[in-house]
Amino acid sequence: MKHLLSIEDLSREQIERILDRAESFAEVSGREIKKVPALRGRRVLNLFYEASTRTRSSFELAAKTLSAEVVNFASSGSSVEKGESLKDTIATLSAYGPDAIVVRHPHVGSARLVAQWTDAAVVNAGDGKHEHPTQALLDAFALRRRIGSLDGARIWIVGDVLHSRVARSDILAFQQMGARVTVCGPPTLIPRGIEALGCDVTCTLDGLGEADVIYALRMQRERMADNFVPSLREYARCYQINARRLGPQQVLMHPGPVNRGVELSSEVIDSPQAIITQQVEAGVVVRMAVLYELLAGSGGAETAPVPEAAPVAAEAQPA
Ligand code: NCD
Repeated sequence: MKHLLSIEDLSREQIERILDRAESFAEVSGREIKKVPALRGRRVLNLFYEASTRTRSSFELAAKTLSAEVVNFASSGSSVEKGESLKDTIATLSAYGPDAIVVRHPHVGSARLVAQWTDAAVVNAGDGKHEHPTQALLDAFALRRRIGSLDGARIWIVGDVLHSRVARSDILAFQQMGARVTVCGPPTLIPRGIEALGCDVTCTLDGLGEADVIYALRMQRERMADNFVPSLREYARCYQINARRLGPQQVLMHPGPVNRGVELSSEVIDSPQAIITQQVEAGVVVRMAVLYELLAGSGGAETAPVPEAAPVAAEAQPA
């Protein structure tokens, strides 16, 4: 594996391998000194052209926990504001010799382009409404931990599917892991031809009771030029997951950030069925596993110490 650009590029075996590796890294997160030397001396560049809380902070923590050097780059406040193109920015930052570039960008296909412009391993941290593969991997990880196996699980993905890179990556990953996926939302927010991915499609919540897992999506208002729904109030009336709609055995997921009171009601966010916090937690160990796989896994430049290796001595840690 040279890059992680799309879930489409991954087999079930590769997904399981990453999740198993993440499981072994979970132990490191529980230690007092949360650091292993696996990527010591490697450079990871985080390149974010869109807002992010979870994805950016967890990539940073993941790289630092593996002892890599991290440079964070946000487009706001950078030369991008002076008109520098993505290609030129990559050429500039490549001069630092990064081993991995983590990139989030509003344009579909941007991560794949970056991979053509650099020798570094590229991780797609969200390219427009296309894909967000590490989100899908962490979702599969958090879900596997909660329900044991995704084989045969019925998962409903509800909401703004049209603008959601998370939905696309999740559909592919959940199905690879053996789940049956249904997408549900207002007809204006369901992309045409989505059934080609192998999922079922419905525009009403009738039948939601059959779901083992409900995955609610954020209304991506920043990507909506037109009025896709009459109002958020109307959307919530028809599609909000609330205490009346969430069954006691159903698991509830959301990638965050949540619009409280729109796609989810406050009481379900704080219910024991919700694993939203566990998803965030999974973000660090799954991204550790991805960086490890790309930089030190099969084909890595040198054999890195296994995750079980002793923690880096406190005095040997980079400042
Ligand atoms: C998602 C994203 O940015 O694609 N969030 C995330 O990565 N945790 C989903 C969203 O913004 O709705």
